[in-house]
Formats: sequence, structure tokens, C-alpha cells
Amino acid sequence: MEPTTAAKPQFSPAAQAEIKRLLTHYPDDRRKSALLPVLHIAQAEFGGWVSPEVQDLVAEVLDLKPIEVYEVSTFYTMFNLKPVGKHVIEICRTGPCMLRGSDELTAQLERLTGAKVGGNSPDGNFTLKEVECLAACGFAPVVQVREQYYESLDTPEAVDAMLRELRGMVHRPILPWEENGLPTSLQNN
Ligand code: FES
Repeated sequence: MEPTTAAKPQFSPAAQAEIKRLLTHYPDDRRKSALLPVLHIAQAEFGGWVSPEVQDLVAEVLDLKPIEVYEVSTFYTMFNLKPVGKHVIEICRTGPCMLRGSDELTAQLERLTGAKVGGNSPDGNFTLKEVECLAACGFAPVVQVREQYYESLDTPEAVDAMLRELRGMVHRPILPWEENGLPTSLQNN
């Protein structure tokens, strides 16, 4: 069953079960410790971003004040606070990637997708974001699209190939408990 977003959003039964499982990892009076993984689940369930209503739902599920969720969701760049395109391209802008052409890469991506950094392309396919070091500096310049890295994007051909691949993908959100298991960032939780 799909999550519902009309009026007040609700987690799907699968997401509720996953959240319940996650909460077994923490003492009852430390439910806040599950906030990051639950925000990831919420983002995967509700179209790739967390609206204020979805964040309020996360607060309710974890017995937190909404402000406790907002202060975390606004701190980490991996949480999207407005609607996004099918593919969110996170462009590393830190020193090594900058020295290897991330400015040119960003300009090329803006030109080819029609999106500006911080916004969506007119066709709804892409969102461009700038982020700090993605920890793949040896392969700069680098972008991340969900769990996938695209590296050495220092030629127009490499960028074209990435966009062709992304345009050809059937978009389907990978929910944290499916296929690949939990995202790497969550696997120790
Ligand atoms: S500086 Fe870009 S991955 Fe480290």
C-alpha cells in the first residue's frame, strides 16, 4: 500500500514496520536517536523531499517537538525541503573538485538540464544541488545521484553519458528496506 499525502500524510504499513524495527535499536527514552534514519524513510516515501507536514509526522512518530525535527532536516544537505525532480544531482564543490572543473561541470549541467543550482529542470527530470566533499576526491569532479556516484566528469562526453543514463532510467524510489538493504549511511543503526 502506498503512503498517503492528502490532508495529513501517513506512512505506509511497510514504512511503519521499518520504523518500529529501527526503534528496537534504542532505549524508549532515546527515540530521537532514530531521527536521521526515519527522515530518510520519510524522504524516500514522500516523493524525495520532506514537507513541513511530513516532518510533523516524523515528530509525532518519534514523540518529538516539530522544532527538533526541523533543526536536523535544515542542517543536513541530504534532506530536500522542497519538491525535487526525478533525479537529484548533488555536485561536489569542495577544493579538489573545484580544481578539477566543478564550476564548468555545474555550468554544463545547468545548460543541458535547464535547471539552476538549487532548482528543478522544466521537464521535472532533474534537480541540481551543490554539496561539500563527497569523499571521492581522487576521481574529481564528482556528483552523487541517490546511492550512485558519477566520477571524473571532466569531459562533455562523460557528462552527456551520465545524463543519457539518468534520462533512460525508470524512476522508482528505492526504499531503505528494499533491494540494496539499508543505505550505507544507515547500516550500523
Ligand atoms: S572534493 Fe569533491 S569528492 Fe572530495
